[in-house]
This record gives sequence, C-alpha cells and structure tokens, in this order.
Amino acid sequence: MRRVAVIGGGANDEHDVSLASAAAVVRAVRALGLTAVPLTIDRRGGWQLADGPVAAAHAITVLSSCDVAFPVLHGVDGEDGAIAGLLRLTGVPFVGSPVRAGALGMDKWLTKLVAEELGIPTAPGVLVDDRFDSAHLRLEPPFVVKPTPGGSSNGVSVVREAGQLSAAVATARAAGGTALIEAFVSGREVDIALFRDRDGALRAGSTLEIGVADGAVFDREQKYDGSASFTLPARVTAAEHAAIEGAARALYDTLGCAGVARFDFFVTAEGVVLNEVNTTPGFTEQSQVPRMFAAKGLDYPGLVAALLAAALPTAVLSAGAARHS
Ligand SMILES: Nc1ncnc2c1ncn2[C@@H]1O[C@H](COP(=O)(O)OP(=O)(O)O)[C@@H](O)[C@H]1O
Ligand SMILES: [Mg+2]
Repeated sequence: MRRVAVIGGGANDEHDVSLASAAAVVRAVRALGLTAVPLTIDRRGGWQLADGPVAAAHAITVLSSCDVAFPVLHGVDGEDGAIAGLLRLTGVPFVGSPVRAGALGMDKWLTKLVAEELGIPTAPGVLVDDRFDSAHLRLEPPFVVKPTPGGSSNGVSVVREAGQLSAAVATARAAGGTALIEAFVSGREVDIALFRDRDGALRAGSTLEIGVADGAVFDREQKYDGSASFTLPARVTAAEHAAIEGAARALYDTLGCAGVARFDFFVTAEGVVLNEVNTTPGFTEQSQVPRMFAAKGLDYPGLVAALLAAALPTAVLSAGAARHS
C-alpha cells in the first residue's frame, strides 16, 4: 500500500490553517485507500508524528519511508521553498512547487517584478526595507501596506491618510521583515487555480469571486470564520476570464510551479490586476481551491489523487486512487 506523508503545521502564524488543510488531505488520502503518515511541524519548528515529538533526523527517516509527500505548510519556512528543498534533497517525490517557485511566490515584491516583466499589471508599489524613506514616496493614499512574505492577511492594513503610514509599515514589518506599500486597487477579487496533471496538461479550476465590501480587504476573520461569500464562477466577461487565465498560465510556467497554485486578481474598470500568487493555497474541503475544482467536476479526493498521480514519476497509485484521478 502506498504511503503518503502529509506535512502540516509550521512555525508561523498560519500554523492552525495548515493543520486544517493537512487534516483534510489525510482524510482524502485514507478515502483513496492509501496510507496517510501525518507529520507536523510545531509552532517552534520541532517535528511531531501522530504519537508525539521526534527528532528531525527521525522525521526525515519516516519521510524517506514514504512513497510520496503532500506538504501543506502555508507561509514562511514551508511554502517558501523550505519544505520543497528538504524533500528534494531527501529524494521523496512530492506534491507542489519546487524551491524556486515557492520562494518567488512567497515574496510579493519579486512576484510583482516577474508579473510586470510578463506584461501582467500589478498595483503600483514600493518596497520598504531599512533604506526606505517615506519622504520619497511617490504614491497617493489610500494605500495597502503588507509584509512581502506571509499570508492569511496577517500584518495587512489599509492606510487612508499619509499620517497613518508609519504605524502600518511597523505592523507589516513586524510580521514579515520587509513590507510593501501599494496603491489601493478598487475592484472585485477574483481568483483562479491551476495544476499540471500526470499527462502534462495544465488544468484550471473555476474562477472564484470573493465577496468583499467596497474599500475593505479580505481579512483574516473573513478568511476563517466562514463569513466569506464565494461566487463560482466569478461574474466576469469572456475577455476578463481570458486575461485572468492567461496571466495565471504565464505565471505558473514562468515561476516554475508544480502541483496546485492559486493566482489572485482584482478585476477593475481598467482591466485585470494581479494581487498575489499562492503556491501552497488553503486546502480544506471548504477552501477556495478545492471548491474551484469541485465546480469543474473534480471532487476533493479526486483532486488529491490527481495531484499525487502527477507527483509520482510512474503514476503507480493503487487502483482505488487511479479511479479518482
Ligand atoms: N493593493 C491592494 N488594493 C486593495 N486591496 C488589497 C491590496 N493588496 C491586498 N489587498 C487586500 O488585502 C488582502 C490580503 O492581501 P494579500 O496581498 O492577498 O496578502 P495575504 O498573502 O496575506 O493573503 C487581499 O485579499 C485584498 O483584500
Ligand atoms: Mg491573499
């Protein structure tokens, strides 16, 4: 029986979100008739198996005993390429993006540079590091200030007057080291996800529109208290859809993604604007990505099976899993 290491948790403020994603993947792996081997990284970076803490060396031994790994570590020291690097050097095939795509996708500034180079518009923005001087800021409020790494809207704030800027920058930098000041984009938030299947085809889920009030942001509470309203497919024109899917495909390939990645956009009166790329998006049954593929007829276990099949070199899954993919 195939052994699937499902890695969740993580030493960052998306720990609980990742545990929820990992629990859902474990359920699906078992429903597919495969053996799930849950590994958790605790809040301080230590490793745990189902029955308690273990040394990192032991965790790697357990990982090495698995046929494939399905990491669902959101945020820094996971999604940013860290877990991909560990798995790559351990030689365990894994679901998801390699080091480079994870690292680029986690850095909102570098993502912006890549997107702009591809001709994909992003919000005008400025990187705030130790050399930043607000006297030279050539943007007008309202702004959105956010950490360059991270997720779950942690450290993100809307600034309506220049006087509030330094407090917002301090909040964002406390969450992520460097920060981004961006022009506030007025538009509807529309996301799409892609994965490359075992045959090499890049498969798109349905577009999904997030119900966020005008002038507000999609904040941590709405993300996880169940109050967010999703509309699938998003209410977009054929031209907007083509722009969204085309941009997502270009980014998936240019960043070098693998597994599933979610691409988040604003649809504005002036066109489609990229917000960010998530190479390890939320992955509970209720999360955006599984809902996007369910809307296209691929249910949660089917999506997990398809991702495992794509990760395994020879697609040697059990008959049960193969039926779903
Ligand atoms: N430039 C912007 N203009 C308007 N809203 C923004 C902008 N940047 C971010 N937001 C809002 O803040 C939310 C979180 O920001 P995001 O960049 O997606 O960070 P995270 O990685 O934490 O999800 C977005 O879903 C959106 O609602
Ligand atoms: Mg986001």
